[in-house]
Amino acid sequence: MMVIGKPFLTVEQIQNRVRELASKISDDFSGKEIVAVGILRGAFMFFPDIVRHINVPMKIDFLIASSYVKSQTTGKIAIFADIREDIKGKNVILFEDIVDTGLTLKYIYDMLLSREPASLKICTFLDKKARRKVDLNIDYIGFDIPDHYVVGYGLDFEGRFRNLPYISIFKERI
Ligand code: PRP
Repeated sequence: MMVIGKPFLTVEQIQNRVRELASKISDDFSGKEIVAVGILRGAFMFFPDIVRHINVPMKIDFLIASSYVKSQTTGKIAIFADIREDIKGKNVILFEDIVDTGLTLKYIYDMLLSREPASLKICTFLDKKARRKVDLNIDYIGFDIPDHYVVGYGLDFEGRFRNLPYISIFKERI
């Protein structure tokens, strides 16, 4: 049986924090244009929520990735679809739902950095620092969370629960 408990982060908490992050990014990039990149599938809800509140000129792009051997430490990341923008000389911000081991974002970060953007920043909705395996400098963090398995707001358990508008702690009882 799968049990979804009470919201760990409510819709209101999430939306308030998203607006705060958007305001910080708007200030930091005032007078500049950015390329906002949503990392799918996880960021499919966070990304549109935050970009609609960022008020600097921007281009929107997407990258579809997955860490397909979750249990391994080798960081085997599959890129299913790359961004389409040429980011050389551009100010790029990556938007992710969660940084866990950091392997996914490290791989994507290094790949995009080699294309010589003017700047490359990372914005994650959730940060689970307890599980980090690689060094990663995260510029914008929505919430630091403890090592619980969470679902909702883009995060899944075996593909499900991504559509919940809040974050909940997932428990599986057999
Ligand atoms: C999840 C999440 C992050 C990554 C974080 O994606 O969206 O991209 O894992 O984990 P890490 O820091 O340990 O690499 P997943 O690979 O499950 O694909 P998804 O976005 O399609 O859910």
